Amino acid sequence: MKKINIAIDGPSAAGKSTIARRLAKKLGYVHLDTGAMYRCVAFKARKLGIDWMDEAALTKMIQQTLIELKTDGTVFLDQQDVSQVIRSNEISMGASCVSMHEQVRAALVQQQQKMAENKGVIMDGRDIGTVVLKDAELKIFLTASPEARAQRRCLENAEKGLESDVQKITEEIRKRDWQDTHREHSPLIRAEDAKEVDTSNLSIDEVTEVILDLVKDACCQ
Ligand code: DC
Repeated sequence: MKKINIAIDGPSAAGKSTIARRLAKKLGYVHLDTGAMYRCVAFKARKLGIDWMDEAALTKMIQQTLIELKTDGTVFLDQQDVSQVIRSNEISMGASCVSMHEQVRAALVQQQQKMAENKGVIMDGRDIGTVVLKDAELKIFLTASPEARAQRRCLENAEKGLESDVQKITEEIRKRDWQDTHREHSPLIRAEDAKEVDTSNLSIDEVTEVILDLVKDACCQ
C-alpha cells in the first residue's frame, strides 16, 4: 500500500493520541503528537519563569529549544525525558494558553511540516487538517461528548492509582474546549474534507477498525 499522511484533529481527551499510536503501529507509520510540543513550550516557560501570555519571550525561547518526539512515544525537551511531567493538569492549561499565540504556532507548525515531508506520518492535534498538513490524503476529526471524555480520564487516573473528581475534570475539559475553539489563530475546527468519527460509544479497537477502513480507501485513490 502506498504511504500517505494522516491528520487527526479533535478536542482534548477524545482519544486522538491513543488511536494514532495504535494506527501507527498497525500501519508501520510514524506517530507525531503535536500537543506534546505545545506542552513542552508551556513546561519550559514555567521553569524559566516566562509568562504564558508573553508571546515575544516564548517565541525567542522556542528558537533555543529542542523538542524531539521519539518513535516509542517518549518526548524529549532539550535532551531530557519529559514524557510524564508535561501531562499534569497545570501544563494542560499552560499548553492551551501558549497555543493561542500566532508566533508560537508558526514556529511549531514549521517544525511539524518538516517532520511529515517523507509521508507515512500520522499527526494528531487541533490544526493538522486545516493548517499543518492541508494536503494530507486522509483527515479525521475525532469527537466525543465532554462527559465521555471525562469518564475516560477518570479511568486512566484510576489505573495509575490516582483519585479524580469527574465533575471537575468535565469542567476543565469544557474550559479547554472553549479556549481551543475560540482562539483567534488556528482555532479547532473540522476541515471541510475531514471525516468525523464520534468515539463516545466506541471502544478503542472499534475506532481503530473504522479508521483503518478509511485508510484503505484513501490509499487506493
Ligand atoms: O492534544 P493535547 O491535549 O496534548 O494539546 C495540548 C494543548 O495544545 C491543547 O489545549 C491545544 C494545543 N494544541 C494546539 O493548539 N494545536 C495542536 N496542533 C496541538 C495542540
